[in-house]
Amino acid sequence: MKKILVTGTEGEVGSALLAQLAGRFDATGFDIKPGSTIQGDLTNYADIAAAAEGMDAIVHMAALLCSPEQDRSLDLNVKATANVLQAAVDKGVKRVVYCSTVWASGQGYTEPYLPIDEDVPCEPVCMYGQTKWLGELMAGWYARMHGLETVIIRFCGYHHVKGYTAHGTIDWEQADVPGLFKRYLGGGHKLMNPADLGLAFGQAIEKPGIAGHRFIVGVSTPYVASDAAGLKSIPAVLINRYYPGIPALLEELGIEIPPIPFFFSHEKARTQLGFRSRHDLGDIARLYRQWQDTR
Ligand SMILES: NC(=O)c1ccc[n+]([C@@H]2O[C@H](COP(=O)([O-])OP(=O)(O)OC[C@H]3O[C@@H](n4cnc5c(N)ncnc54)[C@H](O)[C@@H]3O)[C@@H](O)[C@H]2O)c1
Repeated sequence: MKKILVTGTEGEVGSALLAQLAGRFDATGFDIKPGSTIQGDLTNYADIAAAAEGMDAIVHMAALLCSPEQDRSLDLNVKATANVLQAAVDKGVKRVVYCSTVWASGQGYTEPYLPIDEDVPCEPVCMYGQTKWLGELMAGWYARMHGLETVIIRFCGYHHVKGYTAHGTIDWEQADVPGLFKRYLGGGHKLMNPADLGLAFGQAIEKPGIAGHRFIVGVSTPYVASDAAGLKSIPAVLINRYYPGIPALLEELGIEIPPIPFFFSHEKARTQLGFRSRHDLGDIARLYRQWQDTR
């Protein structure tokens, strides 16, 4: 079994991810907060170098999200990312999976075309996005100069929504039904199924032939470039085209369909990483109706 180190495992995403990876890998968590298997500070090279010893791969999740503390963002998202990459080189770790963010390219504010893909020019609009973009560049530099295998997940995010179980199924009796539908409608396309986290990052750790690549990972959507104007102005019409009957179901449930101002391409993640979110809007409606029928 591959030995992997996951940083930031006391955080929102890292804690859910570690639980998912635990069955598939010999996984160890690292965080500055107490509670993780290894407690250490990534801004201190010695701490991460010691933890990297004997690892096959590192998944680097720890980061400072949108924060007014510019110095701390630079220290953690850039300098500590370099520490992780340097430790991987020094300790012979084969692969580093770097968790970046869609804020690195501009999160819909600055991208010159839709769907946003992995090749879009990056013009971040906040220091968080800027520092994560610098982290991506750092990963690229270590790959070029040291032959380190790096895989970048440009992540739409993860937000737990009540109803999803650790196995990736939905307990409808407990579920936040409007919450589930709203997330699948858009809203940044964040994942909410913990099993999706395990699949995406598990593939990034293990899949051969993907070193040096970047993948946008989020909830799968079917939209193409020519849908952009319609998704902003008449989203219900577009949604009905791809998922017949869903706007009517949403109306029944009292859920408003918001404009969808930007969306992502999931093609590269699907074809090269082997990741597609287990559910999309159509699946969630089908599963909801099945549950209704059995009541
Ligand atoms: N939350 C989202 O929806 C979202 C969206 C896109 C990308 N991401 C990316 O996912 C990753 C995880 O995000 P999150 O929401 O879980 O963040 P979080 O703030 O919940 O967790 C970050 C973790 O990093 C740890 N940490 C901070 N400084 C550290 C240090 N010096 N040494 C060791 N550990 C330290 C913190 O203690 C915390 O447990 C980040 O890389 C972030 O950029 C998250």
